Amino acid sequence: MLRRLHHDQPESFAFTPDNKAWAEAQITKYPEGRQASAIIPLLWRAQEQEGWLSRPAIEHVAEMLGLAYIRALEVATFYFMFQLQPVGSVAHVQVCGTLSCMICGAEDLMGLCKEKISKNPHELSADGKFSWEEVECLGACANAPMAQIGKDYYEDLTVEKLGEILDEMAAGRVPTPGPQNGRYASEPLDGLTSLKDHEEGRPDYNASVALATDIGDTIKRIDGTEVALSAPWGDAGGRPANGDVSEAVRDELMPPAGPQGAQGGRTPAEEEAPRDVGEASDKVSEAPGEAPEAEATGRPDEDVGGNEPSEEATEEARKVAPSGDAGGRDASGSDTGSSDTPSESAEESEPELLSAPREGGADDLKKIKGVGPQLEGLLNEMGFYHFSQIASWGPSEIAWVDNRLKFKGRIERDDWVSQAKELDGK
Ligand code: FES
Repeated sequence: MLRRLHHDQPESFAFTPDNKAWAEAQITKYPEGRQASAIIPLLWRAQEQEGWLSRPAIEHVAEMLGLAYIRALEVATFYFMFQLQPVGSVAHVQVCGTLSCMICGAEDLMGLCKEKISKNPHELSADGKFSWEEVECLGACANAPMAQIGKDYYEDLTVEKLGEILDEMAAGRVPTPGPQNGRYASEPLDGLTSLKDHEEGRPDYNASVALATDIGDTIKRIDGTEVALSAPWGDAGGRPANGDVSEAVRDELMPPAGPQGAQGGRTPAEEEAPRDVGEASDKVSEAPGEAPEAEATGRPDEDVGGNEPSEEATEEARKVAPSGDAGGRDASGSDTGSSDTPSESAEESEPELLSAPREGGADDLKKIKGVGPQLEGLLNEMGFYHFSQIASWGPSEIAWVDNRLKFKGRIERDDWVSQAKELDGK
């Protein structure tokens, strides 16, 4: 199935203040240079807020992470959990159409969706409340047929039962997720055949149903004021307890002394974070903010090569101290596989700088992949106007420039020097 952006897009997207604070806190979970890894939770939160992922939302998340739009678009279009078109205001129904569910009646469930919601998947019902689609196996085959509605699973469905669930939801109620035929989990329908003593005194619901009912987000939009999904990173609004992202996260990650781990509820992966998070959190506390208007270039279907930072980020890059990295993040945050950027491995030396372009005018530095109008402006401001200047950079000059751009590693990753040499020869 083709996954494309919807033809009708909203003008803009912004996280609610609470979701924004939550998103900023998420970014600090990742080590320096790896902030791009926050893309899934951020896109997911955008979808939880709006119901679907619009182009402005994808671009907004890309800008928060210093990513080229195309990178964020790749993620959003790859994963089926991201909805690229408006969904029902009450719920989007994802009916599993893979083997076990098909054998057990998924086709009939889809027939009901066609009847009750709309003839075609991904279309809104007449009242705009519901939409549906067929999806691949959702991993609940022992409870086939099933459907994911909103964020939770409704299992052991029949046409009648699904109809009732939709009616309930249309009336503003949320039926309890999980098995709909009386089963507790995925035991035989006529009861347990072993471990029978486990039946006694068990909770009302199996663990996943209990969690779903506890959270209560089955079909709810999330504005960030709900129970924190970011714990232990922030309070119920996603804000650190003291209202300061950087300090709260630093305290969380860098306790004064003693063993870390179990007590802090941190995962092994998070154990690696302290190395950089102090800087990263500083950056996050002052940087992300509201993303500025997306510009014409760098959009997924326009100028992919123009993957450069926002005006705000560029402005921030100008403030970076000459010899320090100031926690500057890699714009692409991409999978470079190495954090050993020139600035970390080479001595700096100042490259040839010009106060103005040579006779004949400046070269169009935007021809270098990875340099867009804003980066070109920044390079000009630093004293670079010509391909020949960039072509002459060695490791120490790259380190010098790298340390003055916010987006470390970009020069090498996009191989500006080779590109400049080639462009200079033309
Ligand atoms: S086949 Fe439907 S959940 Fe696996």
